[in-house]
Order: sequence, then structure tokens, then C-alpha cells
Amino acid sequence: MSQSPNAFTPFDLITQQTDPGNPERQTLISILHAIEQGGRKISALLQRGPLLGITGSTHAQNIQGEEVQAMDQIGQETFLTLFRQSGSVLGVLSEEAEHPDLLPVTHSAPCLVAMDPLDGSSNLSVNAPVGSIFALFRPSGHTSPSGESLFLDSSGNLIAAAYLLYSVSTTLVLAIGTETHSFTLDPSTGEYLGSGVALKFPEGGKIYSTNEGYLPYWEKSLQQYMGWIKTDRNPAMILRYIGALVGDFHRNLLKGGIYLYPADVKNGKKSSGKLRLLYEAYPMAFIARNAGGIATDGTIPILSIVPNNVHQRVPLIVGPMDLVREFQDHSGSPLNGFS
Ligand code: AHG
Ligand code: MN
Ligand code: MN
Repeated sequence: MSQSPNAFTPFDLITQQTDPGNPERQTLISILHAIEQGGRKISALLQRGPLLGITGSTHAQNIQGEEVQAMDQIGQETFLTLFRQSGSVLGVLSEEAEHPDLLPVTHSAPCLVAMDPLDGSSNLSVNAPVGSIFALFRPSGHTSPSGESLFLDSSGNLIAAAYLLYSVSTTLVLAIGTETHSFTLDPSTGEYLGSGVALKFPEGGKIYSTNEGYLPYWEKSLQQYMGWIKTDRNPAMILRYIGALVGDFHRNLLKGGIYLYPADVKNGKKSSGKLRLLYEAYPMAFIARNAGGIATDGTIPILSIVPNNVHQRVPLIVGPMDLVREFQDHSGSPLNGFS
């Protein structure tokens, strides 16, 4: 822990959590610089968003069939360019691109980055919080015939995760090694500074975050859990929902809350949920794990799911151990894979 209250930097965390002789340390530092730089740029743009005319839609659809906002594209170009310039990223998988981009590298131990460059982008037109999410993987070392197989073969090698939250201030949350830390961007100097105290989910929280409008389409066991948290649980839980995973997760991390984006069942057919495994669920699961929490798809831990598609969707339930256990107990799902 650092001496003064806000003098701990993301660089300090990387040096604390990695071995000096490990070539990955330089790679992580270089990728971190790209994320920090992208965060400064996006944050500055968002401050002036409506004045620049960048808070609306492009009226195009992305490969997921979702409407692309101008900032989705700006986020994609910003981070892709910075990762390319870093020379430490072998491939970038993004929500905004159908296929991974393979990049030239100059570092000896490059990484793979999966990203959601702008999370919750529909919040932008109403000046509500949004974020950017990153998962860093060590390449598997197998010869992979395509960018897709490179990411699929390496999906078990998650080594760090981060998100930027653009809200009243801009926050960088970085999980590496065994810890998760939070840093605040000081726009006057461009520095990201934190306390040096690792984040841990508080116990005894009572917040739940979900889009309850979809409750009629959820499985009976989940509907029962939702009824229980409001009527039989003591104390009853309270609802908070921003509609951007980064914002909801961040509040829950600080206050103690569970985030749920389950699968729908429509016409007897169960969906896969909405959120994407590689660049939304995995990084949040890693950040949560380092903060003493857990993430599940309702049955198995998110971090043990092996993808077969780089844009695979997955149900996501993530939060502190006590609230996720309670969810499992009251929705009738076994605690498979959790100790
Ligand atoms: P994105 O903007 O990257 O597509 O992500 C939006 C996601 C997530 O951030 C949020 O929690 C969820 O969609 C909200 O979905 P609903 O509007 O269905 O609640
Ligand atoms: Mn998203
Ligand atoms: Mn997005």
C-alpha cells in the first residue's frame, strides 16, 4: 500500500503483481498505457458529447444486429489504433467487429485483448453512465489458423481484466494477479490515481440489479428467487439498475450487490442471454473473483465456460459470494464448481 492516500498508480499494481523477469510485465504496462490513453480520449469526448454530435446513432447495425451508436465506432477506432501502436497486442476481438483484428507486434510476449469499446452506449443520449471493458489473454502457443481460433484456444488463459467507467468522474478498475484496484482519472494531469487498497465486495449488501421488465420470460425458479428477495428475505433487497453493465457492476462492487442478466424463455425456447462471454462476462468474472466475488451462468462458473464462438452470449449472475450463494440456494441451482 502506498504512503499518501491517492498516490498508487496502475503501473504500481502491475509491478507489484508481476515478476520483474517476466516479459509479460512490459506487455501489460504497454497495454495499460493504451487503455489509459483511450480512457482519457473517450472521457474528454464524452464531456462535450452533445456539442460534438456524437451521442446519437449511426443508424447502422453491428454484427450482433444491434444499432451502432457513433461512440461505439469511435471507441472501436480509438482502442484498436492504440493497441496497434503499442506493439504488444497480437489480436483484438471486439463487439464492434465480426472478426478479430490481427496486429503487428514488437514485444516479445504479446497478449490478446477482447473488448467492449463502449458498454451501455444507448445511455449516451440521456447523459447516463457508460464504460469500456477489456479482457487480456495469454496466447495459447498453438498454431491457430484464424483469429477466431486464436481467441478460442486462448480463452482459458485470462491474465488481467479492466474496465473504464465514464460517469461524474472517470474510473479505471484493473484486476491483475490476485487483486482488483480502482483508480480515478485526474483530468488536469491525465493521471489515474488510487489508494493502493485492494477492492473487496462488502458482505451483507442488499442491492439487486436486473432488468425486471423481462421477468415474465424468466424460468420459474428465477421468478421464485425474485419474489423471495422482495417479500420473505430479511432485509428485503432494493433495486438499482443503470442499464450499463459497467455502471451496475461498479456500484455493486462498492456497495454489495448482485447483477443478473439471465436467459429468457420464449415459446419454450431458452435464449443464451444477452451479454457476451469473452468481452463482458469473463472480464467481470475475473474482476469479481479478485474482489472476493463470483460469477455464474446460473449453473457453472463463468470462468470455467469454454466458448465455441468468439461472440458467444451467456447468462450472467455476478456479485459477492454471499449474494450469489443466496441466489443459487433460492433459485434451486446447485453451487457447482464453487468452494
Ligand atoms: P452494449 O451497449 O455494449 O451492447 O451493452 C449493453 C448491455 C449491458 O451493458 C447492459 O447491462 C445491458 O445491455 C442492458 O440491457 P437491457 O436494456 O436489456 O436491460
Ligand atoms: Mn456491453
Ligand atoms: Mn458495447
